[in-house]
Amino acid sequence: MHNGVKPHWPALTKGYIISELTTIGASTRTVLQTYVGQLQYLDLHYTTGNYYNDMDAADSATPAVGEGWQPPLFSTSSWLLIITACVLLFVYDYWSHHYLARLGIPGGSSKPFIGNTLDFFFNKEGIQGYHEKCFARYGKLFGSYLGWRPGVVTADVDLVRLVCIKDFASFTNRRRQPIDNKPFHKALPDLRDDHWKDVRGILSPTFSGSKMKLMAPLINDCLDPMIRKVAKHHEEGKSLQMKDIYGGYLIDAIGNCAFGLTLNSQETENDPFLFNTKDIFNFKFNFTIFVIVFLPFLAPVLNYFGATTFRRSTMNFFENIMDQAVELRRSGAERRLDFLQLMLDAHEKSYLTAEDKEQATEEEKLEEEHRKHMSKKSLTMDELKSQGLVFFLAGYDTSSTTLGFASYLLATNPEVQDKLVNEIDTLAPGRDDVTYENITKMTYLDQVICETLRVYPPAIVAAREASRDYQYQGYTIPEGMEIFISVWQIHHDPELWEDPDKFDPDRFTPEQRENRHPCAWIPFGVGPRNCIGMRFALLQTKMGLVRMLQNFRLETCAETEIPPVLGKFGFLTPANGFKLSAVPRS
Ligand code: HEM
Repeated sequence: MHNGVKPHWPALTKGYIISELTTIGASTRTVLQTYVGQLQYLDLHYTTGNYYNDMDAADSATPAVGEGWQPPLFSTSSWLLIITACVLLFVYDYWSHHYLARLGIPGGSSKPFIGNTLDFFFNKEGIQGYHEKCFARYGKLFGSYLGWRPGVVTADVDLVRLVCIKDFASFTNRRRQPIDNKPFHKALPDLRDDHWKDVRGILSPTFSGSKMKLMAPLINDCLDPMIRKVAKHHEEGKSLQMKDIYGGYLIDAIGNCAFGLTLNSQETENDPFLFNTKDIFNFKFNFTIFVIVFLPFLAPVLNYFGATTFRRSTMNFFENIMDQAVELRRSGAERRLDFLQLMLDAHEKSYLTAEDKEQATEEEKLEEEHRKHMSKKSLTMDELKSQGLVFFLAGYDTSSTTLGFASYLLATNPEVQDKLVNEIDTLAPGRDDVTYENITKMTYLDQVICETLRVYPPAIVAAREASRDYQYQGYTIPEGMEIFISVWQIHHDPELWEDPDKFDPDRFTPEQRENRHPCAWIPFGVGPRNCIGMRFALLQTKMGLVRMLQNFRLETCAETEIPPVLGKFGFLTPANGFKLSAVPRS
């Protein structure tokens, strides 16, 4: 209270509000006269009929409460304009949200303006829960809308095979992102057509078996602090938050393998790398995403201001790290074996060794063929930075989640853990036995990881865009339409997997694999646009688990959530992490 005088707060009556609005009307007019100019103002007068008179009347006579309220700010023609615009908007909304129905594609009701956006972002059971419900209701193909943007969601493995493999030429791309999201704007997942093919051709040898063999010792070094940390937790009688334990290890491993950085984030308090990486995955529905979903035509404005879907300071942090690392290599002051060096040298090195060629997948053979004909031989600086960042982020969350789920499944299935420990003790009993060669010999380990990725696939959806009208079983998927492949649903389809919720690594014995549909297990996607980092992801995941089980037995504790509550958006994660205890093996 100033000077002891009580301020007078006017009552918020209807009359008061109207009088305030008319004052605002008058001042608005003054501003218009001053800044827009007399001519325009007169024009407004003529085009809106009695606008000028209405405003004067409103200025001079504030209607008393209860005198029969008339809208004071707009003339009749303005109201007509507003009503017409609203009607047109509703017609457009109705027309847009019935597009899939006109194509005969089944799908549920969508809400005015927002379509099924709430189901995507805020569904109680996550996207996977939304998919499960829709597939149960409509079969293996249904349509839904993100804002006004229609898309088709499928769990039909025959359609997935056509889209991702056989007719890949008609589904080469993912949807063009309306926001540049610098410095990610030249990253492989977002590139299109020939640009994508060339960059993928240049990058793919980076992940060959021979390169992985060289990276295994770098990864192994990053596991030493993890083992020390787990042992310390046990001594202090603490349970383990597995996602954090593995997250720290993976930051160090990817920092080392991607950029040659010795981070030691596991033993550094408040490590900025860990902080910024976590920040990226701490998803929040923000203004930029709102614009992408509802107002994509405003994207150029956001691009102009350099808006990103992530926090700007986080983007700057990673961009600076990349700039410094590239500068150091280009100056010749440093040379290391990592993805950055392999990308910088891509134009001068022979691509694959004879052994790599022998072990190459079908996709890698196609890429090798493409390389012979492409004119682009090296990456631009922007392309290089974008790939480095994507490798870092793609490798962190997906792999730490896989390791966390694998640990949880082993702790809750002790007989599987016993069998796996037995294999590890036979093939790689000591620290230095954890080599690329020994890891590839561990068949039961491979079964355990494959089954973990089936039950809990970190990427629950993969996407493609149709580049032409495509016919399938009487449906038309029009050019430009996105098709979402529900990895989650395919992995839990009882027609493909008996008792799908049961964790059973024996589903991946060689005999069982042989009889399976080629698109029934797709945690890394499928076809020429599958995950380029699969070999690296499997290596770092398997090495992490082997070193953990050489030293500790994983057990549930009082804080273990069984089954884990799943997060609701983006990559599949446990909402509350994985709490387990690790008991040293004597
Ligand atoms: C367990 C770990 C991982 C999982 C489950 C995973 C899963 C996936 C999936 C489902 C896709 C989309 C594939 C498709 O559309 O068919 C993908 C693409 C991609 N992944 Fe991974 N990923 C993992 C680790 C990694 C790692 C470690 C890297 C890099 C070091 C990486 C880099 C990429 C890139 C660059 C693409 C885009 C490929 C393209 O468009 O050509 N991923 N990943």
